[in-house]
Amino acid sequence: MTGPAYSYSAEELKLFEDIKNGKTFEATEDMPAFYRKHLLNLLWMQGDSEYSGALGYMPWIEKAPTLQEKVIVAQMVKDEMRHASVIYRLLDELGQDTLTHVQNSELGYKLPEDKVQIGFQRLKDDYRVNIFYYNIKYWEDYILFNFLMDRAAGHQLQDTFNSSYLPWKKAIEGIYKEEVMHLAHGDKWIKILGKDAEKRPFLQERLNLWWPRVMNVFGSSKGASNDLYVKLGLKQRTNSEIRTVFTKEIQEMCDEVGLTLPQYREEDQPQREARKL
Ligand SMILES: [Fe+2]
Ligand SMILES: [Fe+2]
Repeated sequence: MTGPAYSYSAEELKLFEDIKNGKTFEATEDMPAFYRKHLLNLLWMQGDSEYSGALGYMPWIEKAPTLQEKVIVAQMVKDEMRHASVIYRLLDELGQDTLTHVQNSELGYKLPEDKVQIGFQRLKDDYRVNIFYYNIKYWEDYILFNFLMDRAAGHQLQDTFNSSYLPWKKAIEGIYKEEVMHLAHGDKWIKILGKDAEKRPFLQERLNLWWPRVMNVFGSSKGASNDLYVKLGLKQRTNSEIRTVFTKEIQEMCDEVGLTLPQYREEDQPQREARKL
C-alpha cells in the first residue's frame, strides 16, 4: 500500500507514540478530537451492524427448518440485539443519542433484489457494514452468513481485545464468545449441506453470490483509515491482514466439503460514495 496522502500533525504523531507505549482512554476522560472521531466511527459501525444483523436474522425464527433450529435462530437474534445494546451504551456514554438514531433510521431495510452486488456503497443514512443491506433469502444464505460474516466479525472483534479504548475492550469478550457460537453453527451446516451431493450445487450458487459481499466487508485496500486505526490502538491488524487469515480458513473448509471458492477482485467491485452521515 502506498502512504496516506494526508500527513499527520506533530500532535497526532505524539498521540500514536503514546498509544504505542500503552496509553489508554476511559469514557469520562478528555480525549483528543482526532481519536474520538475515529473511535465513534468504529463504534457506530459495529452498533448499527449488530442491530441490522438482528433484524435480518429475525424472519428465520419462523423459517428455520426444524424446531431446534428455530430456538437456535431466536437465540442468535437475542445475541445480536444484546450486542447492539452494549455498543449503543458505549456510544451513549460518549454523548451520542443512539435511541433517536435507531428510531429515525431504517436499520431493518434490506435490498429487495436477490442477485445484486453493491460493492462498497451505502444505501441508507446509517453506519452498518454494507453486507447487512442484503436480504437473507434462503436457509443456505443464513448458514453462509454464519459461516462467512460471523467468522469475519469474530476476527475483527479479536482485534478489539487490546483496544486502547478500555470500555470497548471490556465489552468485547462476551460478544466474541457468542459470535464464535454463531460461526460454529455455520460450520456445522456447511458440512451437512456441502457433503450432500444434492444440496451442494445450490449452496455453491449462493456462496458465489455471498463471497464478494463478505470480502468487501474488509474494505478497499486503497483506504488509509485502516492503518490509522492501528496507529490509534483501535485495531491490531489492518483489514487486509485479517482478510488473508480469514480467506485461508474459508478455503480449507471449502476444500473439505467440495465447494469452490470464487475468484474475488477488488477492482471489479462498485466503489463507495461519500458517507451521508
Ligand atoms: Fe454480533
Ligand atoms: Fe453473530
